[in-house]
Amino acid sequence: MANYSTIISPLLVISLLVAASASNLNQDFDITWGDGRAKIINNGELLTLSLDKASGSGFQSRNEYLFGSIDMQLKLVPGNSAGTVHAYYLSSKGSTWDEIDFEFLGNLSGDPYTLHTNVFSQGKGNREQQFHLWFDPTADFHTYSILWNPQRIVFSVDGTPIREFKNAESKGVPFPKDQPMRIYSSLWNADDWATRGGLVKTDWTQAPFTASYRNFNDDKACVWSSGASSCGSSSSSTGSPWLSEELDTAKQNRLKWVQDNYMIYNYCTDAKRFPQGLPPECNMS
Ligand SMILES: *[C@@H]1O[C@H](CO)[C@@H](O)[C@H](O)[C@H]1NC(C)=O
Repeated sequence: MANYSTIISPLLVISLLVAASASNLNQDFDITWGDGRAKIINNGELLTLSLDKASGSGFQSRNEYLFGSIDMQLKLVPGNSAGTVHAYYLSSKGSTWDEIDFEFLGNLSGDPYTLHTNVFSQGKGNREQQFHLWFDPTADFHTYSILWNPQRIVFSVDGTPIREFKNAESKGVPFPKDQPMRIYSSLWNADDWATRGGLVKTDWTQAPFTASYRNFNDDKACVWSSGASSCGSSSSSTGSPWLSEELDTAKQNRLKWVQDNYMIYNYCTDAKRFPQGLPPECNMS
């Protein structure tokens, strides 16, 4: 029995450390709509959004950010999710807003989700790239990350970059870098367009549809407050390397692998859509 204390105390220390580092979603987010369909449960460890015939639901971050490397784990609506759309994005306010989007378009059981991405700067988007994933995003949680610094925006899934949007201000393309953004997420019905122009209707016998979130991490982000931003933990002597992070060779190779094998739409190769010529950022090396 005497040995118990020596066995238990290291375990206790470890569990306290884990508890301290796990995010509390109650502190980071507010449920904004859905009349009880969105919930934060398990002491702030898990957030769920649900959708039924009457309504979807959504939440937003308490913080606004100006640059960051932000992770969230998501588990998407399983089974027949065709017609449901699930967005997770950063956005500023006003008519010339900036926005960085992940959107997940559900599909019939066994058919792949479409991961849709877009970047708006000063109210202008039209920069879609779409992907299929190399795993089933409904079977388990996966990490979806946005790296946003003054030089680039990188979308990643489980640490694999899927898209890089570089600062092309030198070519006259505005880049999001002056307007703080909040995180928003919602789950709603879009069977009028999401299923190849409304081909498949949402199967309401499967409702409610539920998506889950956990392990939010904004430790590497600049939080905007009263007109100033503060980046990361102030105790760090190394500063905020992610503010100038770029893709190393290994990551560039991963990005190419995704773009070669999983990209299903790229506005930069859609010449028909841009008869006056492709947007200038498409010609960046
Ligand atoms: C659903 O799966 C089909 C078959 O693979 C695919 O053609 C379609 O683009 C998918 N739809 C969405 C919304 O992802």
